[in-house]
Amino acid sequence: MCGIIGFTGKKEAQDILLDGLASLEYRGYDSAGISYFKDTGKISIRKTVGKVKDLRAICDDENNSTCGIGHTRWATHGGVTNSNAHPHKVGKVSLIHNGIIENYHELAEEYDLSSSLISETDTEVAAALFNKLYDGSPVDAIRKAARLFHGSFAFCIMFKDHPGTIYAIRNVSPMVASYCEDGSFIASDLTAFINYSRRYFIVPEYHILTMKEDGITLEDLEGNQIQPEYLEVDWDVAAAQKDGYPHFMLKEIHEQPDAFTRTITPRIVNQLPDFTEDGLPDELFADCTDITVVACGTAMHAGMVGKTLMQGMLKIPVTVSVASEFRYEQPVISRTSLVIVVSQSGETIDTLEALRLAKKYTTKTLSIVNVKGSSIARESNYVLYTHAGPEIAVASTKAYTVQMASFYLLCCKLGLSLNKITEHEAKTFIKNLQNVPNTISQVLTQESEMQRLTNRMINAQNTFFIGRSLDYTLSMEGALKLKEISYIHAEAYAAGELKHGTIALISDGVPVIALATQKHVYSKVISNIREVKARGAYVILLSKDENITDKSVCDVHIRLPESPDAFSVFNSVVILQLIAYYTAVGKGFNPDQPRNLAKSVTVE
Ligand code: AGP
Repeated sequence: MCGIIGFTGKKEAQDILLDGLASLEYRGYDSAGISYFKDTGKISIRKTVGKVKDLRAICDDENNSTCGIGHTRWATHGGVTNSNAHPHKVGKVSLIHNGIIENYHELAEEYDLSSSLISETDTEVAAALFNKLYDGSPVDAIRKAARLFHGSFAFCIMFKDHPGTIYAIRNVSPMVASYCEDGSFIASDLTAFINYSRRYFIVPEYHILTMKEDGITLEDLEGNQIQPEYLEVDWDVAAAQKDGYPHFMLKEIHEQPDAFTRTITPRIVNQLPDFTEDGLPDELFADCTDITVVACGTAMHAGMVGKTLMQGMLKIPVTVSVASEFRYEQPVISRTSLVIVVSQSGETIDTLEALRLAKKYTTKTLSIVNVKGSSIARESNYVLYTHAGPEIAVASTKAYTVQMASFYLLCCKLGLSLNKITEHEAKTFIKNLQNVPNTISQVLTQESEMQRLTNRMINAQNTFFIGRSLDYTLSMEGALKLKEISYIHAEAYAAGELKHGTIALISDGVPVIALATQKHVYSKVISNIREVKARGAYVILLSKDENITDKSVCDVHIRLPESPDAFSVFNSVVILQLIAYYTAVGKGFNPDQPRNLAKSVTVE
């Protein structure tokens, strides 16, 4: 998704903007640009298709501007071209935008804006509209325009007659801001200015933000001033750096033991699950009759693992919905339904809109979110924060693991609340959960073996991930990881379902990554593996067995640490993450910035 940053203060703006854009690269983009006030009061723009380094190369202006805005564009409307790159300038207005203005064609018609447009973007239409409505008062122009837009937006706007001042307004698309001794900052997310300020506030929707060198003011569309509600970031700058790792993704894979510990420890009191500190009341769990999980991508896969675990322990219906589908289904939700919404970023628009729909049916909406103060966290009735720290790589790893951990904690709590498990069983469950960081650490010692193994994957065209029960749900995440960073087609399949058609795709050398950690279906999975092996598949088997050398079962056996079946998922997923990572690197790709992808999908 697009990245935005704005600065006005006592320091030169150019490097602050460019460095800020560099820290937003993980969001995914295809062009970049900055716009800044020259000391003559003129507004200059530099923008280009390509990366921030390409933008830096054309920022040759010796101007010592101290006020500007910057943007990395993830193309939605219009191709990847210089003219479609942001910032856009029309008349006296220069702006950048993250979001989608759904009625931009109608606005261009209604306000006769087309003659001033040179790009294919909705953003330029917005700039032309602000310019059209501008009569000397930026706030008035913004107030009028904001009421006309349909869709999501986060605008940073500069008006030629107001040097040194940046205006902003948002709806749905994320934006945070901060005033500190160096001046005023605004951005899509905190990583863009974390080097200058650890205090920040979420810009409230439909509030006009005016930022100057000496401060920031906020007012609603009726002109009422409000005070920003500042938050303090709970991780240090190093957390948003690679710390010597070649990629953020590998660093974040290795951070999983600590992330896991940080997430579960505050929720365990006397060896039992306890959400008092999170403000989750016991009545949230007590009369729960069914559970609906809603999320996207990896977060949805964490929900699939949670479903299998919770349905098995709680014996109540648990369904998992893809957020973009849930929004248009007739959800079967009652006031005793618990709806769990999962999102690392807390800004995924499909998931946010699904939450808003669920809230029409029940007040039992609980979000599992990694970013403090994010939209989904703020709009759900209850929130359970994961403490993974900032996840920079587009491919989610540690966030997935701590999302699963959160489901395990919730499942144990629900088991007690619904009298499905005894206190002793709960304490044993928690003890096993507390041992997970140790077994993950054991798996991480196999990293070099994974690097060797993936040489066999690099030239694959198609790959299958198979398993049953929890292993099947985990296979979904393994397939997505491989697909999204190595661009190899990968499909997760219920091992027992393959022979109903898909096994036709198994031929000599097709890699099949099989998981067999669940005792109650182990022999069935081994039979399924023999079926694909017999048809020429190259089988990589993950199991807790000592050492399988029978070549009619697998070509490579990866031994997982001994751990109860329900907890093996935490070990298996690390292997799958490492296989995906080293396959992508082996193919010469940058796993942190996979093509076409964005870290947080804030457009529908
Ligand atoms: C996972 O590796 C991807 N980055 C993607 O599937 C992601 O999980 C999905 O877009 C949901 O994002 P969220 O957790 O921030 O809502």
